[in-house]
Amino acid sequence: MVEETGDGAQVGGYKTIVFVICSVAALGGLLFGLDQGFIANSLETLTEHYDLTVQDKESYSAILATGGIFGALLSGVFARLLGRKKSLLLAGFIFTAASLYSALLPNLFILSACRFALGFGVGMASFVVPLYLSETAPAAIRGSMGTLFQLMITIGIFLISVTNVFIARAFVDPATALPLMFLTITLFAALMFGGGFILPESPRWLMLKGRKEKTIEVLRKTLNTQEEIDTEIREIEEALHGPQGVGFGIVFRGYFFKVLLVGVLLQMFQQLVGINVMIYYAPTIFGYAGMKGIIAMMTVPTVNMLCTIPAIFLVEKWGRKKLLYVGAVAMFVTMVAAGLAFQAIGTGADAAIIGNAPKTILLLAVIVYIFGFAVSWGPVVWLVCSEIFPLEGREVGMTITTMVNWTFAGLVMANALTFMETFGNASIFFLFSGFCIVAILFVNRLVPETRGITLEEMEFNLKDGARLRDLGKQR
Ligand code: BGC
Repeated sequence: MVEETGDGAQVGGYKTIVFVICSVAALGGLLFGLDQGFIANSLETLTEHYDLTVQDKESYSAILATGGIFGALLSGVFARLLGRKKSLLLAGFIFTAASLYSALLPNLFILSACRFALGFGVGMASFVVPLYLSETAPAAIRGSMGTLFQLMITIGIFLISVTNVFIARAFVDPATALPLMFLTITLFAALMFGGGFILPESPRWLMLKGRKEKTIEVLRKTLNTQEEIDTEIREIEEALHGPQGVGFGIVFRGYFFKVLLVGVLLQMFQQLVGINVMIYYAPTIFGYAGMKGIIAMMTVPTVNMLCTIPAIFLVEKWGRKKLLYVGAVAMFVTMVAAGLAFQAIGTGADAAIIGNAPKTILLLAVIVYIFGFAVSWGPVVWLVCSEIFPLEGREVGMTITTMVNWTFAGLVMANALTFMETFGNASIFFLFSGFCIVAILFVNRLVPETRGITLEEMEFNLKDGARLRDLGKQR
């Protein structure tokens, strides 16, 4: 007979608080997406109000990534010192304050500082939310929570694209439209901040701080039976007696350095294939090809969101490597096609004389490219980075790889438009297609298949000196 802990209402086998935990965490993913997707359909309005040059546009877009690097770097420290809950609250507060202040339309310097702060919040959230979920959500739903976070990012990108299009059309005056665009972010940020107060602290962090009584109190809220609580406490105690998180010195240990290299290169290529040029600048790029309107504005976020859904099933069915190959090949072919289309169009062409053929090729290429990314490199890279590191170095490994992601995202965003201006519109697509080829070779030589093997087995293989690409093989 199931002995109830008698705390809180229950829905479908889980207590209501579990749904609150998942919703607040989902909001973390959503805010990541809202900030990432903000630029695409607000850039024209921003340019009108602030009179932005190409370089201003790039800097304002890319400073989110700089904030992300610092957020990711410091989030480990915050999560350890303040606890997971307070770190989430802090991220929620930063999101709320920075988007609200942006809505007042301060000068460009302050507006950029606010975007840096938003990036800091995104960097923190992208580390703390998955950590908090993995420590607090009941074991049976942890896996789906991980993919939910990814899906929420793409929903956030989609949502802000829709609202920004709608606002820009309804209010032609940028001084009215821009505050409304920023306030959309504030709305969800305030929800995350407010919701954060009712979250319980992570049981693992409480145990780390030696607060067992409080841990039991939290577990009573989230779990259903005394038996589940006892098992959880036992598992946390065992984990705490096992290898503990060590400092950054671990990067000098050979076995760790090997997997770090895989994580770093995966994150680097995830950005060098050019995804954020599409996420940020698709309407601008379609504009260079004489295409404006709803298709130019909504194709990328819609395809991106819809194609993330099959990825959730395919990562387990096909495995990580197969998806990475399929995605990279699709992106290679479509980037070459987009480059050729732009070569036919030429740079600075008069929109009125651009033929339908290159426009159609460009549109199809972008759709298949986004499909290729969303179904593979988008979710798989984050997943593999959460799987390959040995327990004692997981925090360090994920911090470094997350920082690499933001560093390359920033580099691409800060230079893409200037690159197109200097070397011609077609050039950047050929460049990205080149990175796709190198990425395929890298996956083939160094990336392990991590499907269907426990993290402990993989750790054993790693320390036993297995070749990188054989880490996921049962021995
Ligand atoms: C990437 C982001 C990108 C997003 C698009 C994520 O996996 O890290 O840089 O904007 O996917 O969906």
